[in-house]
Formats: sequence, structure tokens, C-alpha cells
Amino acid sequence: MSRKKDKHKLRDASAGTSTIQPSRPTSGDDREPVAERRPVPVLLIALLVALVFWGELYVMRHGGDIGGEKGAFPAMVYFPFKSYAEIPKPPGGAAEGVKFYGQYCAICHQANGMGIPGQFPPLAGSDWVLEEGPNRVIRLMLNGIQGPITVNGQPFNNAMPPWRDIMDDAKVAAVATYIRSTWGNKVPPVKPEEVKAIRDATADRTSAWSAQELLALPTK
Ligand code: HEC
Repeated sequence: MSRKKDKHKLRDASAGTSTIQPSRPTSGDDREPVAERRPVPVLLIALLVALVFWGELYVMRHGGDIGGEKGAFPAMVYFPFKSYAEIPKPPGGAAEGVKFYGQYCAICHQANGMGIPGQFPPLAGSDWVLEEGPNRVIRLMLNGIQGPITVNGQPFNNAMPPWRDIMDDAKVAAVATYIRSTWGNKVPPVKPEEVKAIRDATADRTSAWSAQELLALPTK
């Protein structure tokens, strides 16, 4: 069959259909197509809620040990510990230290430990805080410190209030531990017993320390 013949046939076919009129006029209907907004069926929402609820129940039943039932992922401790009680708490309650630091110290030394230039010396990177032992830091926390002091090469001449009657041994230890282990500071924690020993040894002291006095004492 040749192509020419083919074309001819086609034309014939179209000629035949051209007599059939479309049932609806193609022009003159200028209605815009619109997207209908139908509300999501309530049943579908209810089904979803039920599914999520069931999913949660499933996770609770088959997950960790919840509601007195053993789950697929039981709460467990790993070697070398055998129970939760054996896991050591952060020494001196460093977690508590953040709270008390915010409560008692941040107003001057700032939450980021940077202090305020010319007024309040920084604790972050401070050579006073980073001393190996807390001998001087505990003293200045208990009784305060005033007069000229040099911190990281910067001179200050101001006064810090005493905390002896406001903070107990555990609080002083927690805050001292916190300032010695945050903002990049990295020196050993302070124990409440160390605070108690210094509190007792300096029980008679009522005035603030001077930097000079503290520098004459050993760091630990
Ligand atoms: C009212 C402001 C104020 C508060 C609150 C305060 N300090 Fe201070 N602190 C100072 C000032 C001022 C100095 C410097 C004193 C001086 O000039 O002799 C200082 C010095 C220090 C120093 C030694 C210097 C240094 O920067 O390392 C340490 C450590 C310190 N404070 C820790 C604390 C801790 C811990 C607390 C919270 C328990 C605290 N301070 C609360 C004002 C304050």
C-alpha cells in the first residue's frame, strides 16, 4: 500500500465524520474550570487518630519497660555497671552547679562566664579559676574578695559579696565544680567536704579577702 493512497483514505474518513455535529457547542462556553473544596471526611480524621493511638500503644507495649511490662528494648545499663544505682553521679553535683551559678553569680560574671570588662572579671579561662586546687576559689566564694586583682592580665578593682551564709557546702562545691569545668575550663571537681574544711578553718573571718592575701596561700 502506497503512502499516497493512505492519505486519501484518511481524508475520506474525516469527510465522513464532519457531518456529525458535536452535542455541545465548543465555543461560547466560557465557564472557568474550578477546583472544588470539599472538607476532609470526619471518618478519615477519626481513623487517623485511632491509628496514631494504636501506634503509640504498640510502641509502649513493645518498646522499653513501661507500665510494668517488659518491652523489646528494656531499660538497661552497660558494662562496667550492673544497675542504675552503680552509675556515678557527676561529682559535686555539676548539673546543680549550672542552676546555682545562674542564681548567684551570673548577674556579675555573666552566663557565658565572660564577666564585664572593667567591672566584673571573667571566670572563663581565668587563671584564678583554673588553679589546680580550689583552695583560693573556695575562700573567695565564702568571704568575697575586694581591692585590686589581676585576672588574665586585666586589672580590676571592685568588690564581690560573700556567700558564706547564703550557700551551703554542697552549693559552693557544685558552683565551684561548674565554673572549673565549663566554658573550656577543665580542672578537677570540688567536693563538699573540701568546702566544709575551709569553711571551718576560716570560721572567724568576717571580712572579704584581698587578692594579695589569697596569692600568699597555696593553691591546694
Ligand atoms: C555582685 C557581683 C558579683 C557576684 C554576684 C559574684 N561575683 Fe565573683 N567577683 C566579682 C568581682 C567584682 C570580682 C573581683 C573582685 C576584686 O576586684 O577584687 C570577683 C571575683 C571573682 C573570682 C576571682 C577572679 C576571677 O575572675 O576568676 C572568682 C573565681 C569569682 N568571683 C567567682 C564567683 C562565683 C562562683 C560567684 C557566685 C557564687 C560570684 N563570683 C558572684 C563580682 C561578683
